[in-house]
Amino acid sequence: MRVVGVETSCDETAVAIVESEPGKTRVLSNVVASQVAKHAPFGGVVPDIAARLHAEAIGVVAKEAFELAGLQPGAVDAVAVTTRPGLVNCLMVGLGWAQAFAVARKLPLISVDHLEAHVFSSMLADPASEKTEHALEPPFVCLLVSGGHTAIYRYDGPGEVKRLGRTVDDAAGEAFDKVAALLGLPYPGGPSVEKAARAGDPNAVEFKRVSISGRPYDFSFSGIKTAVLYHTRGRNAPREAPLLPGIKVEDVAASFQEAACDVLADKAVKAAVEEGVPALAIGGGVAANKRLRALVQERGRRAGLEVVIPAFAYCTDNAAMVAALGGAYLLKGAPTPLAVEASARSMVGS
Ligand code: KG4
Ligand code: ZN
Repeated sequence: MRVVGVETSCDETAVAIVESEPGKTRVLSNVVASQVAKHAPFGGVVPDIAARLHAEAIGVVAKEAFELAGLQPGAVDAVAVTTRPGLVNCLMVGLGWAQAFAVARKLPLISVDHLEAHVFSSMLADPASEKTEHALEPPFVCLLVSGGHTAIYRYDGPGEVKRLGRTVDDAAGEAFDKVAALLGLPYPGGPSVEKAARAGDPNAVEFKRVSISGRPYDFSFSGIKTAVLYHTRGRNAPREAPLLPGIKVEDVAASFQEAACDVLADKAVKAAVEEGVPALAIGGGVAANKRLRALVQERGRRAGLEVVIPAFAYCTDNAAMVAALGGAYLLKGAPTPLAVEASARSMVGS
């Protein structure tokens, strides 16, 4: 079954076409138009601008996805679209396009949760391998770390998701972005912190690893962000204050990255071991971080887990994961109502 997937929940306009079979996903095209450069001057995603840019891009991105797949629009069997969670005005652009396409082509429309799609993306084979068999099958535990979300899930298949833990305040990517801003590093902060950290000492500053009593898989990142502020500018100093003399940005970046990745890897490995699953996957934009990848690999393997880290293109926002999850739901015979709601909130695993 061929599925066209649409993703517009945040600042990437994405359309992909996949061929789904039980246990297999062949990605025929996976086009992403990023708005990052347009939001960079504002230091974060501006929802109104994002929605307008999605509306401008969606047609062109879809056309390119069909061209790259070598298919006519009539050659797909279903449409999958992200309907939650995300910026509602942005979600509505993708949903509007998907509904119109489904009506015009008399196709089933399947609504997908962005977070479950991120989890599902860790099952996709590396695009460079040209394999179509899934790299991983449920049950597994997935650490999802992005700019908007940070959570640990147990995945038993489409619709069978259990959230084991989540952040109680900032998402991990948000913490990287805020720390980068505090250190005067460019947006998006994650890659800039990682780059600066390469020239720094991860043991230079001891940032506390926060644990929350009785909630072993929950995270908190707001304390470490404040700790970075105080360390670089002095106690109770405003964010605008100049850096204290002698502060080495690279050392602070490396020490923050070490603390954040340590706590993420630690809880994810513990969750997988305690759930008794054979595999641990990571996904979301922060999964691009090399230090996080290394820690999860090292500790996961030591704990006897198979560790799966998807290709970078499947870690960040994309529509292949949406089409692939939509395909899996359709293969299961899930309902396909045309009228669906776009929502800021995820319903997955909560
Ligand atoms: O999953 P994603 O592309 O978008 C959503 O938030 O849904 O994740 C973007 C987040 C941003 O906060 C960005 O700073 C972070 O992922 N990020 C990284 C790295 N690359 C991207 N964080 C740490 N290290 C990286 N190399
Ligand atoms: Zn995402």
